[in-house]
Amino acid sequence: MKISVFGQGKLGVPIANVLQGSNITVARVDPAQGYNDMYGDSDAHAVIVPTPSGEDGKFVNTFVESVLQQLSRLKNDSPVILLSTVMPGSCRELQSKYPQHPIFYSPQFVDLGHVEAKFRRPDFILIGFDEKGSFVEQRKGLQCVNDMYKNIISASAYSASPGHSTKANSKYPPMFTMNWESAETAKLALNNFLAMKLDFVNLIQGFCMAENIDYKPVFEMLRAEPRIGNQFMSPGFGHGGPCLTRDQRALNAITDINLLNSRDALTDSVVSQCGDKVLVLGVTYKPDVRMVEDSHVCDVIEKLLEQGKPVDFYDPMYRPDNMDGWPEHLAQATSLIRIPDMSLSDYDTVIIGVPYSDFNLDYADKHLINLWGTYG
Ligand SMILES: NC(=O)c1ccc[n+]([C@@H]2O[C@H](COP(=O)([O-])OP(=O)(O)OC[C@H]3O[C@@H](n4cnc5c(N)ncnc54)[C@H](O)[C@@H]3O)[C@@H](O)[C@H]2O)c1
Repeated sequence: MKISVFGQGKLGVPIANVLQGSNITVARVDPAQGYNDMYGDSDAHAVIVPTPSGEDGKFVNTFVESVLQQLSRLKNDSPVILLSTVMPGSCRELQSKYPQHPIFYSPQFVDLGHVEAKFRRPDFILIGFDEKGSFVEQRKGLQCVNDMYKNIISASAYSASPGHSTKANSKYPPMFTMNWESAETAKLALNNFLAMKLDFVNLIQGFCMAENIDYKPVFEMLRAEPRIGNQFMSPGFGHGGPCLTRDQRALNAITDINLLNSRDALTDSVVSQCGDKVLVLGVTYKPDVRMVEDSHVCDVIEKLLEQGKPVDFYDPMYRPDNMDGWPEHLAQATSLIRIPDMSLSDYDTVIIGVPYSDFNLDYADKHLINLWGTYG
């Protein structure tokens, strides 16, 4: 089986690596660098290019379209497996504009740092297809997507890691096939549910902290309730990164519910507690990644700077020579290169934005805002 992978970014590279390690021949194409001639004879084309958020929060399909346009030049009808996240209604619209290659929508539920592992052993597989398309096209395409996942999952079963039995690993995850719109909605709904869960735990923690109530036993009890479950049940500083917050914004754009309210309220509440000179420890959206996209603590910094309050920050992932993708307002804050550079006496407020153990310092009588609750 041969699959071409269009898009060599945060998702495209690890996914191509997994396919390559699963007895699949891979043609890697980075459309940003131009199209090579390696993909013409592929059995399927995996499209994993960015779908950036527009001003209104909806995802924009321009890059997906440019790949589909390119594929229309081929003299075959091999299926497209679309892994980029798109808005409900997108696949039908794209297919009517580019009818040659049947589109199968198979978005991924992975988090940065664990993309390969999650793609190898997904909890479930989601496939959206054209329920009105021809039976032959549907069967051929679904078979092809199925074969791709089968290869990945059976290859990962043989590379069982210690502690995992081969039997458990070879279990095929549930597969959900549905029409395009249901699959597009399911992807958005899942991430929005997770974001809502995080917003909720942060809200309860915020209430407890304001009222001087010990929140830890509250969460211990909540986690014991099977209908709630114990994942995504640790309070923190709000979500960010390339998926959850952006998917919230997208759903807000097409429904009447503003699910971002609670995250925005938390930003305002933190800003209102700050003194005149603030030190922020950790600015990325989670530990051990360089990404600051939709980082919640960056929203706080932006608001503080808007209010004319000076902000200094330290982050172990910060590279002064590579601010690629970091928001402009961070450049207005002063970056500290090492923890010893800090003199806490210079600051009225210290915010712990990312829970690194290095930040477990003696803050004495400093006004410390640590919504991660790790050190208190
Ligand atoms: N990163 C994640 O954790 C994650 C998780 C789930 C879903 N997704 C979705 O996957 C898609 C890709 O995300 P990503 O994080 O890999 O993006 P990315 O920004 O890392 O992708 C960059 C790649 O996109 C390609 N590209 C750049 N400009 C292009 C252009 N003009 N035309 C075509 N291709 C171009 C290039 O190959 C480039 O390397 C998005 O729709 C995203 O929502 C990402």
